[in-house]
Amino acid sequence: MSVVTLHINDELVSARSDQKLLEVIREQGIDIPTLCHMEGISDLGGCRLCLVEVQGSNRLLASCVTPVQEGMSVYTHSERLVKYRRMIMELLLSERNHTCAVCVMNGHCELQYEAAKLGVDHVRYDYLSPDLPIDASHSNFTLDHNRCILCLRCVRVCDEVEGAHTLDVMGRGTNSRIITALNRPWGKCISCTKCGKCVQVCPTGALFEKGSSVGEMEKRHAFLSWILNGRERKEWHW
Ligand code: FES
Repeated sequence: MSVVTLHINDELVSARSDQKLLEVIREQGIDIPTLCHMEGISDLGGCRLCLVEVQGSNRLLASCVTPVQEGMSVYTHSERLVKYRRMIMELLLSERNHTCAVCVMNGHCELQYEAAKLGVDHVRYDYLSPDLPIDASHSNFTLDHNRCILCLRCVRVCDEVEGAHTLDVMGRGTNSRIITALNRPWGKCISCTKCGKCVQVCPTGALFEKGSSVGEMEKRHAFLSWILNGRERKEWHW
């Protein structure tokens, strides 16, 4: 594997040629917000919070899906980026009903945390306030579309790690929805193994364990690296 050199915020750094910018940026100790990215599952560049400026490109690029290149010059916190990240966060908050005060994830929510870090204390756009359903048909878990930011972590972990592909996404734009079992109630779905991986990776209160009250739900991410490392070491044989 070859090594490339590039500049990040005017500092010369080296990276493996198969790395994505986000990984290299974080290796430099630079804090960059992400919501759809999660270590252990594929990246799709959906939330756009990890945007960076690359010299010579007019477009802002999602660093989680942009491969490193020899000689590139990358900026992570320019005035333009800070402005756009804040705007993206406000749009996310205005699209659905993120009423933190009555959410099971209040105080533990990644969306809430990143919004606070970006200094978002109000939203300049009209709230869409959609009338969205809640699927509580599953015996263990609930899917609340009002809190969903369509990061698709749940879809990817269910497909790539659990291998069930119970969850998917339907529709376009503001009509996009997470669906279970080809748009049947989750509780009627025979492919769901009830593993709860989707619930644990969800950054907001869109997926939660039944019985959780306001602010009670906390997500555990450590299981993912434990499973993936164990599989790599072939710790489990059947
Ligand atoms: Fe890169 Fe979401 S983390 S687009």
